[in-house]
Amino acid sequence: MDDQPSHRIHISDMLILLSRRRQGEEGVSRVRQKEKPSSLHTMARRRQLFLVLLALSITGFIDHVNAEANEIESSGESPAHMPDSEGIESDEKSKSEESADATEGAPGGGGEKCKDRHDLCKFWSSIGECGTNKEWMEDHCPVSCDVCNGTMTCIDRHRLCNFWAAIRECETNAVWMLSNCARSCKACKGKSISSHGGSRADGGFREEDCTFVTTHEDTSHRKTISINDVRNSNANFNCAPTQQPPNCNRNLCYHLRFRTFDGTCNNLKESMAGSAFTALMRLKAAALRQWTQRPDFLFHPVETIFSGCFAASSLLFLPAVRIQIPHHSNALLMQWGQFIAHDMAKTTMLNNQECAACTSNQGRCFSVFLSRSDPTFGRFMCLPVARSTPVCGTGISNFREQYNENTAYIDGSMIYGSSDRDQFLFRQGAFLKTKLVNSRVFPPIDKNNNVVAGDDRANIFVGLAALHTLFLRQHNRIAATLQRVNPHWDQERIFHESRKILGAILQRITYTEYLPRVLGDEFERRIGAYPGYDNQTDPAVANEFTSCAFRFGHGMIQEFYPFLNERFQHVGGIPFNEGMFKSQHIINNGIDPLLRGLITLPAKMPQRLTPAVTERIFGNSDLGSINIQRGRDHGVPPYTKWRKFCGLPEVKDFSDLNSTMSNKVIIDNLKVIYKHVDAIDMYVGSLLEDPVRDSLVGPTLGCIIGEQFKRTRNGDRFFYENEKVFNGEQLRQIKKITMARVLCDAGDHFAFVPRKAFNVFKPTSSADLLRCDEIPDIDYNVWKEELAI
Ligand code: HEM
Repeated sequence: MDDQPSHRIHISDMLILLSRRRQGEEGVSRVRQKEKPSSLHTMARRRQLFLVLLALSITGFIDHVNAEANEIESSGESPAHMPDSEGIESDEKSKSEESADATEGAPGGGGEKCKDRHDLCKFWSSIGECGTNKEWMEDHCPVSCDVCNGTMTCIDRHRLCNFWAAIRECETNAVWMLSNCARSCKACKGKSISSHGGSRADGGFREEDCTFVTTHEDTSHRKTISINDVRNSNANFNCAPTQQPPNCNRNLCYHLRFRTFDGTCNNLKESMAGSAFTALMRLKAAALRQWTQRPDFLFHPVETIFSGCFAASSLLFLPAVRIQIPHHSNALLMQWGQFIAHDMAKTTMLNNQECAACTSNQGRCFSVFLSRSDPTFGRFMCLPVARSTPVCGTGISNFREQYNENTAYIDGSMIYGSSDRDQFLFRQGAFLKTKLVNSRVFPPIDKNNNVVAGDDRANIFVGLAALHTLFLRQHNRIAATLQRVNPHWDQERIFHESRKILGAILQRITYTEYLPRVLGDEFERRIGAYPGYDNQTDPAVANEFTSCAFRFGHGMIQEFYPFLNERFQHVGGIPFNEGMFKSQHIINNGIDPLLRGLITLPAKMPQRLTPAVTERIFGNSDLGSINIQRGRDHGVPPYTKWRKFCGLPEVKDFSDLNSTMSNKVIIDNLKVIYKHVDAIDMYVGSLLEDPVRDSLVGPTLGCIIGEQFKRTRNGDRFFYENEKVFNGEQLRQIKKITMARVLCDAGDHFAFVPRKAFNVFKPTSSADLLRCDEIPDIDYNVWKEELAI
């Protein structure tokens, strides 16, 4: 009798209808078709509920609740009902549409059998259906009916559950609330796992507890750090703050599926591994006495023969030596390098203004002193350089350590930021905030015509701002597609799934298109095939990588960047320095002309720096000197030590350099400037090495860069190829993505692109161009999750 079709009404449908008052009618018919159990007994309960609801509705209570909820939501607190980005069709979701039990493919889904197969299971169980319609319910809703041997989780999946329960959402929005806030609604049936949350004694979760998809990381029990916290600490205390390691079991069900913003709990055992707001790791101990707070070179064992870094920098700038460009790559490769450098590291620096007076300013400045006779800089006493900020508590009686504000993982830190507390700056529900200019979508634009992204260096070069724009659009495109594919997903779910896919795209392009070009023959040896996730691998960014090795890209900067129209004809361009903090070039003209220019401009080999970098950066500075000085500031051991570290033939004398630097003049100049081979700075020595076959860099840089990217990949639980991150079909789709496809997807209007976007393309050979519809694309339908019925 309990399962009579005629009894399948429909108070739950009414509840859905009512809760849908704010969301429109879409989806109602679909819900009506669902098969559900019923009973006479529950009919009475439902009627009661309905009357209460009706009464509340009449008194306007619901509107009040809605107003409150909307207020919270618009302040960025709630996952649902966020207004969409400009230019993106609004499509608000009903809380009731969210599939609470959509565990298909979820890591640790708790087993096939013990899984609720209907999104209303919790609700039905709360009105007694487990008893009155036992057979159907135990079959379809085993978790909610507690027949899973204690795996029923009685938890709140949102940190506002308590609040919503207090304002009686459990009654007025029962379906969604009972599924997502069972504990606060006191709707836990049978053995709930613990009064605090999961089945661990401390309220933490086990993998088998996670029979649902949670899109909310509860950070209420720990204080996360925001960029403002870092800025304030930097300004007030001249040091950068760290945070306490979180207990990953508290949010295990979230951590199994999605990255945190700050990278904590990527490694579930070492919760801080690779996380933002921590010290850079070191491959080799810092050079001597760096802990005294005073720049290392003053104490270097070969200090008397240690050169001033300005003189050393001049080695890198040798206009007479023409570096031929045998490389088949283009200038977009340089731009990708910077984009990824900013994903992996952002070293905090002390305030540079204080250094203008060319004093040491109590260990806060480390300016480069200049020769009066220098033709370019002779009129200045120094190039002001602020020291990198020490991690609080370091550099007093121990080594001074430098701080990474971004996560070490390739996860889009530069797009999404690295703190849950900074999200409001650039995020709007499932989407990233946008600004529409001349019918083109951009990130928000500030009063200085700079784009606003997850990383405040986004405008340092207009090409970088173009990639930020491209990937912001790509995120929003993915989010809009997922919204269509899974109309029952809420904004939070769409945001996190899109972020996950975008992170995979960044990784895919980096490991299959970018790194093989940078490392050439060394790629296989230093990085090789993916062996799977290793929780013993530390993914943290090495100090030596970011303060020296990966800055090789500064040598790829060129003097002039052309702009090309859709027929790949020149329509102008800008000198490099005109593109620094000048994002209006792309805001006015779109990103395509600049990107086409990068595609057609052959890559510059990085072994020497161009005058735009050594003379005119920031108007009148020298990035070569700054890089060398940064290495010394961080206590990076000299070049010869890295030869040994990398297992390369040791360099004990200047003559040993012959085997790795074919240019004799360079070796002679090194002798003049450094006097002792052990004094050569890592940045200088490693950049001057001849490139390995088919590669952009020499063996020492290949070793340090390869070492970093191998750890970055193998130590990332969310690396796109790791099992359980995506299911087999999704992974197959992700493997189709290329930079060329992203240009097609998210450029202003690329009709044609080269199949290999990092290959230099000559406008004369249009045979190399493909129509965008010839470039493979991801089929997002494989992300479709059926609402279980
Ligand atoms: C496109 C033009 C670029 C400009 C204007 C630029 C400028 C800068 C500046 C001013 C710094 C800070 C220097 C310091 O004070 O220590 C820096 C850091 C850095 N750059 Fe570049 N850069 C560019 C391209 C690149 C490229 C192509 C790469 C790599 C392929 C790269 C890698 C890095 C790295 C790894 C850092 C250190 C990041 C950190 O730890 O915070 N840059 N760059």
